[in-house]
Amino acid sequence: MVANRPSANTAALWDAAARGLRHPDLEDIHARCLDPLEAGPDDLRLAHGIVIGTTENFGYMSGVVKDFFERVYYACEGETEGLPVVFYVRAGRDGTGTVRALSGIIQGMGWRLVQKPLVLHGAWRDSFCDEIEELATTLGAGMSAGLY
Ligand SMILES: Cc1cc2nc3c(=O)[nH]c(=O)nc-3n(C[C@H](O)[C@H](O)[C@H](O)COP(=O)(O)O)c2cc1C
Repeated sequence: MVANRPSANTAALWDAAARGLRHPDLEDIHARCLDPLEAGPDDLRLAHGIVIGTTENFGYMSGVVKDFFERVYYACEGETEGLPVVFYVRAGRDGTGTVRALSGIIQGMGWRLVQKPLVLHGAWRDSFCDEIEELATTLGAGMSAGLY
């Protein structure tokens, strides 16, 4: 997982995604959960699946998530095709600009978006954490079952 967490709420989302990937049923999945600034091409090359999480800022993904993609896009060109990916966006009001941008990058990377993007907008709800946990566990379960 690569996700930013600039606030208490987004830290809770980050924890929920990590918890989802570390579900006790996913014994064969070794989850690495990284902040975007500490993740790079070597981490990506090791991944068999990825969760991306970002806030929406100024109608786009967070700058640190964009920075991650800027550092891996050409460095990993041709090496990560078909990688299963899911992503979530925490947005105050919207989220559509970020979904569009991330979907384009994911397509450019040749990754396989295996679930609909999860957009969590509006006032905070504790249920956001459950949705993210489930998103992450479902990705892990699919990997575990050899679906991707
Ligand atoms: C500089 C800045 C720009 C933002 N721009 C947007 C935006 O364009 N669209 C949107 O829906 N929310 C925007 N937000 C709200 C953030 O997405 C939201 O605060 C963030 O996801 C953290 O969520 P939280 O308030 O639940 O902790 C912005 C927040 C900041 C700090």
